[in-house]
Amino acid sequence: MKIPVIFSTVTGNAVKLAFAAAGALDEPVGPYNVGYVLGDERHNVKFVTDFVTDKYDAFVIVYWCDLGTADRDTLELISRMRGKSLIVLGTLGVTVDSKHAADVKARVEAAVNKENKLLCHYLCQGAVDISRTVNKLKTPENESGTLSEEGFARHLRSQGHPDAAEIEAAARAVREALSKL
Ligand SMILES: Cc1cc2nc3c(=O)[nH]c(=O)nc-3n(C[C@H](O)[C@H](O)[C@H](O)COP(=O)(O)O)c2cc1C
Repeated sequence: MKIPVIFSTVTGNAVKLAFAAAGALDEPVGPYNVGYVLGDERHNVKFVTDFVTDKYDAFVIVYWCDLGTADRDTLELISRMRGKSLIVLGTLGVTVDSKHAADVKARVEAAVNKENKLLCHYLCQGAVDISRTVNKLKTPENESGTLSEEGFARHLRSQGHPDAAEIEAAARAVREALSKL
């Protein structure tokens, strides 16, 4: 079964999961950048989005966490889909056993389950871009966006993720989800 893999990323972590997912599929289509699928003035928007969303029944979607949920482009893509089977993978800055991660998972799943069927949701930690850490460190303490000592330690701990074990676990999750199709 042909299954497109569509990823959204700012710093590249999602790309690692997207290629792992593609490697776990018999007939992957892509990986596609979500920007291409959603389209913009440089592409033929309607053709690309309709072609991808109408032609296939199942998708792998890889997101990055922004503002405590999936990034805006991924949410936009999901909102344009109806009755699809979705294998969802994502990365976020904190550890997956945190309350924040559980909240992110719940929000993403609510968005998917509105009009589509969630086959699996694999979430793991992804390195926080070091320039984001540096910028936050430069922010005066009394302003929003500053980084506490604990936050700084958290950013450091995120480096190196997703690691080899997480990338393999993502591929395994995809393989297991395929048996539900
Ligand atoms: C602008 C921005 C906002 C972010 N917001 C969150 C957030 O709300 N919660 C979180 O856990 N991580 C957050 N992160 C961390 C990213 O989700 C994490 O580093 C992710 O692995 C990035 O994936 P990517 O490399 O595919 O872009 C944020 C990162 C950036 C750059």
